[in-house]
This record gives sequence, C-alpha cells and structure tokens, in this order.
Amino acid sequence: MEILHVSAECYPVAKAGGLGDVVGALPKYLQDAGHSAKVVMPMYRTKFLAANEWDVVHKGATNLGDYFFEYTIIKEKTNKLGFDLYLVDINGLLDREKIYGYDDDTQRFTAFQITVVDWLSAWQHRPDVVHVHDYHAGLIPFMMQYCYRYKHLASIPTVITIHNAQYQGWMTWEQSVFLPPYDDWKRGLLEWGSSINPLASGIKCAAKVTTVSNSYLEELKFMSNGLEALFEYEKGKSVGILNGIDAEVWNPATDKYIQHDFSIETVEEGKAKNKAQLCETFGLDPNKPLFVFIGRLVGEKAADLLPAVVGDSFYYIGRRMNFLILGSGEPEVEGQLNAMNALSQGDYSSYIGYNEALSHLMYAGADFLLMPSRVEPCGLNQMYAMRYGTVPLVRNTGGLRDTVKDISADGGYGLVFNNAATGDVCNAVWRAVELYNNKKQFHAARERMMKLDFSWESSVQKYIDLYKSLQ
Ligand code: ADP
Ligand code: GLC
Repeated sequence: MEILHVSAECYPVAKAGGLGDVVGALPKYLQDAGHSAKVVMPMYRTKFLAANEWDVVHKGATNLGDYFFEYTIIKEKTNKLGFDLYLVDINGLLDREKIYGYDDDTQRFTAFQITVVDWLSAWQHRPDVVHVHDYHAGLIPFMMQYCYRYKHLASIPTVITIHNAQYQGWMTWEQSVFLPPYDDWKRGLLEWGSSINPLASGIKCAAKVTTVSNSYLEELKFMSNGLEALFEYEKGKSVGILNGIDAEVWNPATDKYIQHDFSIETVEEGKAKNKAQLCETFGLDPNKPLFVFIGRLVGEKAADLLPAVVGDSFYYIGRRMNFLILGSGEPEVEGQLNAMNALSQGDYSSYIGYNEALSHLMYAGADFLLMPSRVEPCGLNQMYAMRYGTVPLVRNTGGLRDTVKDISADGGYGLVFNNAATGDVCNAVWRAVELYNNKKQFHAARERMMKLDFSWESSVQKYIDLYKSLQ
C-alpha cells in the first residue's frame, strides 16, 4: 500500500513534541513492513532544510480566499529518513523558523492543507490512504470530499490520528472564505459549537479515527475540551493504537547524543557515568537520587505543580534528592522554575528551553522521571525513560496508564499515582527515594523496564490492518 502522511511535525526535520517523533518513526516502520510511506509537511526554515539536498518535484498555484499564491513541493534527495519526505514551500506563510506560535497560524495551516490537496490532485496515480495528524491537517478529509475542485479525490480513504485533542484549531465562520468553494449543504461537517473546528471536522469526515492509546480514547468520551459527544458518537470508527518508540534513535547502547553508552548488562555503571556528567554540569550531588522532568511547561503536563513539588519534597522528605527540569512553555512557570535556581543547595537546577541532546543525557543519567500529566494521550517520555533504565513516576491517565505498571503489582516497575496534586506527586517522590535506597529492588526494576518492548513493530501492524480494512 502507499500511505501519505500529512503532519505539521516530523523528527528530525522539525519537532516540538511527540507528534514529531511519531511521524518520524511510523512511516519508517511501515516501509520496513513492505509498504510505501510518504510524509508531507511545511517547509519551515530549519537546520535540516539547510543541511540536506532537495529536488523540486512540483510547482503550482492556488488560493487562500482572495490571497493567490504559488507553491513549491520539494523532496529530500537521498531517502535519508527511510521514506519519501516532501516539504511544502509557501512564501510569506510557511517560511518561518518556528513551527507554531504565529498570529497567522490559521492562515498558515489552512494554506498548507489546501496546497497538499492541490498537489495530490495533480498526482498521476492515487495513494491508497491519506493519513492526517492532529488539527493542522484535520480539514483535509473534508476538502477531499466536499470541495468542488477536489471531489475527484473523494474515493481515497482518509485516517485521522489524534495525538492531542486539547488543540482543535478553531476558526470563525468569517474565516470559512479561506476554504476552497465547497458544498454548502455539508457545512455541518466543518462545525462544532458554532465555529469551524478542524479537529472535529477531521473526526467527522475521516473514514477512521485513531488515538495514540486505548485509555485516551476512553477518556476523550468524558473529557476532550468540548468534543466528548462527538467521540461518543464516532466510537464505531475509532480505535486506540499505542505509539511505539523509534528503537534506533532511542537506544542507550548506540545513542549518538550521549558519551557513555550502555546496555542492560552495563546499566549500573553506564547510568552512573551519565549521571556524574549531568550533576557536574548542573552543580548537583551525584550521591542523591536524581529526579528529572522533560517536557512542555503547560497545564496538560501539570508543570505548574513542579515548583511546589520541589519545595514540598525538600521540606517534608528532606533535601535527600536532586531535581533537574528541562522545558519551555508558560512564562509564569518558566519564571518560577528559573527563580528557584537561586535557592538551590546543590540539589536543584532548571534549563528553560528546548535541547534535544540534553534530553537524551537526562533520560540516560536520571534515576527517576516525573510525569504528573493531567492529560497524556500517549506520552513518549516515560517509554524513553524506561528504555534508559530510568524509573517513571506517572499519573494514572491515558497512555501513562497503558504503559507503566506500579512496582507494588506483580512484575511492576514504575510509580503510579492518581491525582495531579502536589501531595500525590510528593508521596510518589517519597516512595521513589525509598526504592532508591533499596538497591536490590531498584536494580531489579531497572532491568525489568529495560526488557520491556515498546517498539513500533506491533503497533505498525495495527495501522496496516486498519489501512487494509479501508481498501
Ligand atoms: P508531547 O508531545 O505532549 O509534548 P510526548 O511525551 O509525546 O509529549 O513527547 C515529548 C517529546 O518532546 C519527547 O521526545 C521529549 O523528549 C521531547 N521534549 C519535550 N520538551 C523538550 C525540551 N524542552 N527539550 C528537548 N526535548 C523535549
Ligand atoms: C501528543 C501527546 C502525547 C503523545 C504525542 C505523540 O503531543 O500530548 O501524549 O505521546 O502526541 O502521539
């Protein structure tokens, strides 16, 4: 089969979070399983763009309402990622450094989607499936079926994967002029709660809906930022498929970002060396357990709890542990986490920003990973952590629930708690310190986690079966 993935992110081209990791890995594993997978994404001005060679494969022109523009599709020359990678260039809209965060994101991503469909309509043949990811590509199933000029694409089945239903891409009805002319009888398929909702439209119009874990799919029916009734209504065509991890990129034995590689046989000394390096860089005490947080500093991740978790842990448990935090996001949380550096007694540090290399070193060198997420559709961090022998402390939600088993259960390895509340997280920190001091149990948990299989192979087969069901 030939599958075209449409996404705003794809690692290593451009990544803001787990969406990038998944779209960088899933197509590779589809290729390995004998299928032809392609990715199309915006041509941001990233390092990857400058560092690689490209062929122009298509030039066209289309419009966003009354804004007419020319576009170019380029393709990476050497099949570097293991699949065909296409970038969409639209001058004035997509030629930016960052992925998100501009005032005209609605125009940018709507123009991107129109361009992808316009390009697709010029293909000599049809792909077997168009697989769109999150709201940035959510209007495509509607456009392929109900925009007059693209109606000949209506027979191509579409799949939407929901990585995050918090962001839905809301547009006002005035902005409907951006869309290519469409069958007005179908306007209900664009709408949710009196505005245009690209994510809801994708859910309504795609042949199949997937979410990135089973538990998340269940939770969406009760808590999905307004779409609860829609998820309930569309449950018949929806399925949860757990993400895998890219075992080539995230392998402690070959990781190019870390200096001290290790395997399950050498985990204790390997992690100790990485921890020593981290502690030296951030002025921490390598004899104490090291707790890290890596991620977007937003409410979904419960990052707002971190200052109190650190403060209360020191106060109630004692300064018996280190905390190191890597992330960026809400300015208030960033400010608090920064300010706390001044109060450190060699046991706290934060790095505000995005740093891929540091994240790898942290998975490798930490003892524990904190993930108190309020919402976690799948979560990749905990799976990376476990592959690197780092015990995750997670809230019992979404993909965290599906991947982490509490150490108190038979064969368990992580620390699971129920509420995104400071007390619950601190209690898990206390349990972790106890675990750290029980070396036998701690090492056994490490080994158990490192043997777990979070590879893509089984999940890829589920996607393939899903695509096949649409042929
Ligand atoms: P989400 O996609 O919701 O942010 P995931 O757990 O699926 O959460 O994936 C997060 C990905 O982004 C992981 O690869 C993680 O290592 C990475 N990441 C998040 N924040 C940072 C950061 N500040 N620096 C480096 N990597 C980060
Ligand atoms: C989203 C989710 C995260 C998931 C990732 C990849 O950003 O927040 O939980 O792992 O997408 O699917």
